[in-house]
Amino acid sequence: MTTAHSGTDMQSFPCYLVANWKMSLSTRQSLELATALMHEASMMPIPDDLHTWIAPSFLAIPDIARKVAGTRFRVGGQNLWPEQHGAYTGEVSPTQLKEMGATFVIVGHSERRSLVHEGEELIRRKVKSAITNGLACILCIGETRDERKAGKTLAVLRSQITSAVLGLSPHEVRSLLIAYEPVWAIGTGEVATTEQIAEAHTTISTIVAELTTARCPVLYGGSLKPENAPEILALPSVHGGLIGGASLQSGSYFELVRAGLAGM
Ligand code: PGA
Repeated sequence: MTTAHSGTDMQSFPCYLVANWKMSLSTRQSLELATALMHEASMMPIPDDLHTWIAPSFLAIPDIARKVAGTRFRVGGQNLWPEQHGAYTGEVSPTQLKEMGATFVIVGHSERRSLVHEGEELIRRKVKSAITNGLACILCIGETRDERKAGKTLAVLRSQITSAVLGLSPHEVRSLLIAYEPVWAIGTGEVATTEQIAEAHTTISTIVAELTTARCPVLYGGSLKPENAPEILALPSVHGGLIGGASLQSGSYFELVRAGLAGM
């Protein structure tokens, strides 16, 4: 099993900077970006406790995995199907992801929750399957603007975490990372305030502690970029970021790496 982390409390986690390339790049562009990242990394050695993970489209995973082999970069999927094989047209299993070179997977991204109506039960099965099949799993959670306005943020987070974490053993939780992504901040340029982020992250860690004896890192996602990363990544309750737009250029991704290093 891929154990993503061994932290036991809020302060002891490494920093994870996870690039979510979504469906933004062709395979050729993905390889070019990976090459540029390798070049930047060769000029700036990355310490062991800063993890640089890339989630390209499924199609680019094998090429990128070959490209980053032997470096500190890890490659993962943006989604998976919870079953190992069978009549699931258009889906990709955990084993297929691993065969391609993936070591982690993103589950429950808000774009999947809203665009293809992924619900809590399917997300729960995906998290369990990813982890029992040896992938580290980044579970995305977060409230919509309406839910925040209605004062439901904490209830939404509690329900999303409880559904996914209840079926996991403490050992399995060690392969889980949670990404707090307020839906209203994703791809909008509107970023949550540090107070909102700190409150949500502390709440998430508290809820996890109520459900299990293990702890997991909590990443922030939603318009994370070089201008706001130093402040956000310096928060003690933030253990890294899930980055969309700003991960599509090696320069801005590495600015986040530098902000992550400074915040450690
Ligand atoms: P963004 O995306 O950084 O472009 O807001 C983050 C995400 O969707 O994970």
